[in-house]
Amino acid sequence: MPHCVMLTVTELNQKAAEIIRKNPKLRLLLTEGEIANLRTEEHLFFSLCDAESSVRAVMFRHLAERLRFIPQNGMKVIAAGNADIYESNGMFQFRVTDMLLQSIGSIQKGFSEQEKQFSEEGIFSDTIKKSIPENPHKIGIITSASGAALQDILHILKRRSPSVETLLFPVHVQGKYAEAEICHALESADTQDCDVLLLGRGGGSSEDLRVFNSEKIVRAVHACKTPVISAVGHETDFTLTDRVADLRASTPSAAAELATRKHYPEILSDKHTIISSVSQIQTGDCLKIHLPDGIVTVRAEYKEKKYIMNESQKNRLKNYAERVENQLSAVTAEMQNHAESRNLQMPSLFDAMRHSLTAGGKRIRPALIYAFCEACGGTPEQADASACAMEMTHTASLIFDDLPALDNDDLRRGKPSCHKAFGEATAILAGYGLICAPFSMIAEDNALTPEQKTEIIKILAREEGTSGMVGGQVLDMQFEAMKHVTAEQLENMCLGKTGALMKAACQMGCLCGKGTPEQIETAGNYGLALGLAFQIIDDILDVTSTSEQLGKPVGSDAQEDKQTFVTVLGIENAKKRAEELTSRAHEELRKLPDSEVTEFLHALTDAMLVRVR
Ligand code: IPE
Ligand code: IPE
Ligand code: MG
Ligand code: MG
Ligand code: MG
Repeated sequence: MPHCVMLTVTELNQKAAEIIRKNPKLRLLLTEGEIANLRTEEHLFFSLCDAESSVRAVMFRHLAERLRFIPQNGMKVIAAGNADIYESNGMFQFRVTDMLLQSIGSIQKGFSEQEKQFSEEGIFSDTIKKSIPENPHKIGIITSASGAALQDILHILKRRSPSVETLLFPVHVQGKYAEAEICHALESADTQDCDVLLLGRGGGSSEDLRVFNSEKIVRAVHACKTPVISAVGHETDFTLTDRVADLRASTPSAAAELATRKHYPEILSDKHTIISSVSQIQTGDCLKIHLPDGIVTVRAEYKEKKYIMNESQKNRLKNYAERVENQLSAVTAEMQNHAESRNLQMPSLFDAMRHSLTAGGKRIRPALIYAFCEACGGTPEQADASACAMEMTHTASLIFDDLPALDNDDLRRGKPSCHKAFGEATAILAGYGLICAPFSMIAEDNALTPEQKTEIIKILAREEGTSGMVGGQVLDMQFEAMKHVTAEQLENMCLGKTGALMKAACQMGCLCGKGTPEQIETAGNYGLALGLAFQIIDDILDVTSTSEQLGKPVGSDAQEDKQTFVTVLGIENAKKRAEELTSRAHEELRKLPDSEVTEFLHALTDAMLVRVR
C-alpha cells in the first residue's frame, strides 16, 4: 500500500496553500478574463471567467481603491496577482493586485445602446433643457433620507441660502424599490411648485448607481416640468439621468451650489467662454444663459474659485513651520543626549540628521497635520509630536531618494545631499535613525490618549511602508527600465511615493484633533489628491525651474530615465491634471466645517499648484 499520511482538515488546507504559494509559476502571474459575480464589501470579491472556466478572485480594498476604473460585471480585464488557497475553507482563489481594463463588456454595451436610442429621440438635446432659476425659493430634494448626500446638500443650502424652503422626497437610491420610488417622487415633486429639483445620491460602485440608468427614471426626469439638477455619485460617474437632467452637477454638494448661485455668469461676446463668479461649474456642464437676444445654452469652461493666500494665512503657515522646527531641534538634542548617556558618542550622525532636517524644507506635511488637527477642533500642542514625526520621516525619504542607488542627486534643500556631506554609510544610518524616532516619540507623547497613539502609529507605518511611500519608490525605480508606462501606472506609483505621506499627514492631523471617522476619510482623500497634484508640479519644476530656485538639481529626472508626468502627459496636460486634482482636493475640504483653518487649507491647496519651489 502506498505511503499514506493522516492530516487534519486544517493541515490539509495549510499544505495545499503552502505548495501553491511556493510555486514560482503561480506567485506572480497575469490572467485575462471577464468579471462576474462581483460583490463589493470591505474588499472586492468576484469571479474571472473565460469561455470554459472561472476562478474566484479577491482584491483587497487598499489595492482596489487604486484602480482607475470601477469594476463591473461583464468587464474584460487583465488581472495581475498570485494564486492562493483561503485556508479556512480550502477555496482556491486568485488574489488580484492590479487590473487593466480591456473592454467594457456587455452591461456597458447595453448602456450605450440605450443611450443611443434616447439621443435619437432627442431626449438629451440641449435645446429642450430648462434653465435653472437664479434665486430659487423652494427646492425639492429627491434622495435617501439617511445618505451623506442629503447632509452635504443641506449643509450647502444652509450656508448659501438659509431662507430657501426645502422639500425632501425620501427614496431608496439603490435596490429593488429605488426605480419605482424615484419615479413616483419625481412625479409628486413636480406638482409642488418647486423652482428646481435636485436628484441624486453619493458615490458608490457602478452597480450601486445603476438605477440612474433606468429607462423609467430617464423618462420621468424628461417629463418633469420643473428643472432638474442631477448629482449622481462622484465627478467621474456619468449616468443617463445626468444626460437627461437640465443640468448635471458633479456631486450632491455641487448640485446645491448650482441651485443657489446668486448670479448668472457673465458672457463674453463670443458667447462661448464664461468668465464667471460661479465657483462650482464643471467641464461639460450645460447652462442656459439669458441674454438680451434670447436664451443660449453654453458648455461651461472649467472654472474654480481661486484662493490666494492672504497675510494671516501666510503667517499661519510660517507659525506652523517655526513650531515644527523648534520641535525638531529639541527632539534631536534629546536623542543625542540619550545616546551619549549610554556612552554612544556619534556627533557626526546627529550632525548629518540636523544637516538634512534644517533649512530649506517647505514643511508642508507638518502644516497639514497642524491644520487638520485644528480643523477637527484640536490644539497645536496635540499635533506637535506627529508634525515632528512626519517631517523626520519625510526627510529620511529624501536622504534615501538622493542616494546614488536611487536618484543620485547631490543637492537637497539648497545644500549638498546628506551622502555628499557625510558619506553614504552615515547618510543611510541618519535616515534609518529618522525613520525609527517617530514611533517612540508618538508613543511617549503626553498630549495624546493611548487610542490616538495607536491609530497615528498605524497610519504612519502603513503609509510610509510597502503599501505607501516605499512601494511607490520601488515602482519609480522599476519604471526607469521601462520604455512606456501608462498615465494610470504613473499615478498609481505617485499615489504611493508622494500621496501616501500626504494622506498620512492629513489623517494624523485629524486623529490628533479627535476627528470623526468621516473627517479622517475626507482628510485621506484630500491628501491623496493633493499629493498627486504636488508630484505633478514637482515633475514639471524639474524641467522648467532652476536648481537655485528649487534647492535641488533640475533635469535630474531625465538624467535618470524617470517616467514622469512630463514624459507621459506632456507639460500642458500634466498641468490640467494637476488642476483637476486640485479641484478634487477642494471638494473634499468642503466637507469639513467652515472655519478659518479650512479656508487656510483651501489657500494652501491652490498655493501648491502655483508653487515655484
Ligand atoms: C520633495 O518634497 C519630494 C516630493 C515628494 C516631490 P517637498 O517638495 O515637500 O520637499 P521639501 O520638504 O520642501 O524639501
Ligand atoms: C520622491 O520623488 C518622492 C520621495 C519619496 C522622496 P522625487 O524623486 O521626484 O523627489 P525629488 O524631486 O527628488 O525631491
Ligand atoms: Mg525619486
Ligand atoms: Mg529624487
Ligand atoms: Mg522630483
